[in-house]
Parts: sequence; structure tokens; C-alpha cells
Amino acid sequence: MSTANLDNRVVLVTGAARRIGAAIVACLHDHGARLAVHYRGSADEAEGLVHTLNGRRPDSAAALQADLLDGSDVRRLIDDVVAWGGRLDGLVNNASTFYPTPVGEITTGHWDDLVGSNFKAPLFLSQEAEPHLKAVRGSIVNIVDIHARRPLRNHAVYGPAKAALAMLTRSLAKDLAPEVRVNGVSPGAILWPEDGMSETARESILRQVPLGRPGRPEDVAGCVLYLLRDAGYVTGQIIAVDGGRSIGW
Ligand SMILES: NC(=O)c1ccc[n+]([C@@H]2O[C@H](COP(=O)([O-])OP(=O)(O)OC[C@H]3O[C@@H](n4cnc5c(N)ncnc54)[C@H](OP(=O)(O)O)[C@@H]3O)[C@@H](O)[C@H]2O)c1
Repeated sequence: MSTANLDNRVVLVTGAARRIGAAIVACLHDHGARLAVHYRGSADEAEGLVHTLNGRRPDSAAALQADLLDGSDVRRLIDDVVAWGGRLDGLVNNASTFYPTPVGEITTGHWDDLVGSNFKAPLFLSQEAEPHLKAVRGSIVNIVDIHARRPLRNHAVYGPAKAALAMLTRSLAKDLAPEVRVNGVSPGAILWPEDGMSETARESILRQVPLGRPGRPEDVAGCVLYLLRDAGYVTGQIIAVDGGRSIGW
């Protein structure tokens, strides 16, 4: 997808009803794309977002539900996107679960959920999307994490799952070339987890950020836009959007 704009290109963003996913949707829509807004449980937020976008340009967005831990839902989601949009130009694997799993307390349920959302689903979504993306020389962007490279204490399932997603990005960049480019964005501290984080923990993270502040969801969205729209000679790369944290912590 190395065109000068995204007019009428169809992009699927997973986990897109809220937070960073919704910012990616808004940014790509601002630049002309039609958006398949995937959600699992956040139906009201997804429908609200789609209503707003369709108010700006009719039939420019659709809300599509799927549990990405369910293989049949993954297949149906790609079919639903193509049935709605008539094509698929971009896949943004943003959906994720994130929580601590201290050693001694890790269960196979944690594994299924964290590896399922952060690694397995992006792999099988990419596989289902591949023929459609190839047909239009489309592109995949995986939302990774700077903790794919450097471990976050007590996250021995999430971190390795994101590391696998980083390697998947490079693997698929080889396997799907030359028709389909595959890249990633690694956010640093953008939005704090919704289940809370102490002020001390937040301050300690921000001390590690050369730019001295958390990022905004729009910072991640802008990088996704660059990779989908402008980066026609870039594949297999993962760009950190982290205020410089990963160069010196
Ligand atoms: N927040 C940060 O500062 C930060 C830092 C580093 C990396 N990241 C990465 O950036 C991306 C977005 O972060 P975020 O904090 O905005 O994400 P988030 O709010 O934690 O999750 C995004 C969405 O993922 C969906 N989801 C989770 N499990 C799913 C499943 N099994 N099937 C379908 N959907 C599922 C949920 O959809 P529903 O609500 O519809 O159920 C959720 O709203 C993630 O990949 C995350 O790992 C974020």
C-alpha cells in the first residue's frame, strides 16, 4: 500500500473500539480509509465510533464482533470485512490482553489468553487475510511493545508473546514479500492500564523516558499511518514509539 493516500482503502483494526485502537481508526479515517472496527466486548463504544465516522462519510466504517481466541471467529471476521468492504488493504493487529502473571501463579488459562490475543490471533488473522492483501499489494502492521525486547517484571507470558509477535512480523515480511509488507510499532508508555498503577510506579517509568512524558495514542496512530501509507520500501521493521525509553533504560 504505497499510494499517496488511503482513499477508499479498506483497513481492519482489531480491538479498535477504545483507547489506542480507536485512535488508529480515527487517524486512518481522517486520511481517507474505510475502517472495519473490530471489537470483542465493547459493542457500545464500537457502534458509537462507527456512527461518528459514518456521519462524516457514509459507509466508511463498520463494527464487526469477534472473539479472536476462537479460530472460527477469526476466519469469519476476515470474510465479514471483505463482504462489507469488497477488498482488504490493511490489517492492524492491535487487540491484546495485558496483566501480570507472577511465576508460581501462571495457569494455562493465562497462556491461552495472553498468547492467544498477542501472538496466535495475529498469525491466523494474517494467514486468512493474505490472499486478499496480496491481491491489492496491501500491508500488515502489528502493535508490539517495547517489552518484547526487554522483560517487564512479572509478565513472563505477555512479554514472550509480544516477542513472538515481533518475530512473526519479520517472518511474515519474508514470507509475504514482495506483494505484502509487514511491519510493527512498539509503543512504550502510552495509556496506563485501566486496572490501575500507583503514582510511584508511573513516576519511575517516566524517569526512564528521555522525552519526559507518556506518549499519546495519536503518536502510535501516526506511525501506523506512516507504515501503511508512506513506507513503500519498508518491511520487516518494528518502530519504537516510546519517547526514547528503549535506548537508555
Ligand atoms: N497502553 C499502552 O501504553 C501500551 C504500551 C505498549 C504496548 N501497547 C500495545 O498497544 C495495543 C493497544 O493497547 P491498549 O492499551 O489500547 O489495548 P487494550 O485496551 O488493553 O486492549 C485493546 C482491545 O483488545 C481487545 N481484545 C482483547 N482480547 C481479545 C480477544 N480475545 N478477542 C478480541 N479482542 C480482544 C479488547 O476489545 P473489547 O474491549 O472489545 O473486548 C480491547 O479493548 C496493544 O497491542 C498493546 O499490547 C499498549
